[in-house]
Amino acid sequence: MSEQAQPRYGVDAYLEWVEKEGIPVADDYGIDLFKVPTAHWARYGVKGAAVHLKGRGDFANMFLFDLTPGGSTVPQRHLYEEVIYVLEGSGSTQLEFNDGRKKSFEWGARSLFAIPLNARHRHFNASGRERALLVSTTDLPLVMNTFHNETFVFNTDFEFGERAGKSEYYSGEGDLITVRPGNHMWETNFVPDLASIELKSWGDRGAGGTNIMFVLADGTMHAHISEMPVGTYKKGHRHGPGFHVMCVTGEGYSLLWFEDEKDFLRIDWGHGVVFPPADRQFHQHFNTSNYPARYLATGVGGLRYPLTMMQRRSLLGVKPGEKGAVSTSIKEGGDQIEYEDQDPRIHRLWLDEMRKNGVEQKMDAFFPGKGQAA
Ligand SMILES: [Fe+2]
Repeated sequence: MSEQAQPRYGVDAYLEWVEKEGIPVADDYGIDLFKVPTAHWARYGVKGAAVHLKGRGDFANMFLFDLTPGGSTVPQRHLYEEVIYVLEGSGSTQLEFNDGRKKSFEWGARSLFAIPLNARHRHFNASGRERALLVSTTDLPLVMNTFHNETFVFNTDFEFGERAGKSEYYSGEGDLITVRPGNHMWETNFVPDLASIELKSWGDRGAGGTNIMFVLADGTMHAHISEMPVGTYKKGHRHGPGFHVMCVTGEGYSLLWFEDEKDFLRIDWGHGVVFPPADRQFHQHFNTSNYPARYLATGVGGLRYPLTMMQRRSLLGVKPGEKGAVSTSIKEGGDQIEYEDQDPRIHRLWLDEMRKNGVEQKMDAFFPGKGQAA
């Protein structure tokens, strides 16, 4: 029996792979994606970086693609899914299928799209003057830690034909699948502008809020967008890890805290800022601007294909007729804090911020009989 010089155990195959790729890694709690250094990424032929939010869980990561003016990526295919949000710039993405068919679509700032699993794809920056910055949320940590074989992940020919979707899914069209408030889905592969897509009411989450869940490229990745009207904020809640929250429109902030913590972590929103509600960490989002505030959340495990029992419980409920725990009061066994049950400091802080910004608050109606909002 020969003795190994370095016993190989406790391996994170994903992190080993990232190190071998030689790209910069941003590793923090809240991250301004515009400030993350990028460097040449040989695999893609453009500048890139990996983004690892602390508290991101086991399944998800982010990559940045920084396309120089006129630049394009080297075509890739891979056995992990990705949902891409355009932070700035304009360009197009071309998909090529095994029979030679191609599909391409043009994106701009605040577009959202998915690469169908293992479809060959290439991104082009349409501008000769400005860079394009894309951020991709992927399930590569899950996939690489499962197979720990780079050749299999990046050089497999199998085509998931059923994931290519309808032609109109690449032109901004889609299918609205109505289920119930909070569970309505927009099925497509490409959303031209998250700032203007129509959302649906989800009263349970508070104060006139609206949202839509996405099913992108019939994948397992999660993406949803929520909006808070002017003068309002959402109810606090908690769920499992892996969501990457990004501000799309408006200004505001989020508070995050674990059950036993006395103080809140505050993250101020800005275009390009991403942060993770960590595993079972309470979080609450606040609009302080005089226009509706929208945020995008991406992760692994969606409404059509929840990946874990916790996701199923959080989003859909487990028993017939049961609501998701994220919109059910903690008093009823769920994971949401109703306005009347929240720490009074939360409302006072927000009123201070609203006064500073000169924006009228519209929360009185949501505190029945308590006068807390006065
Ligand atoms: Fe949440």
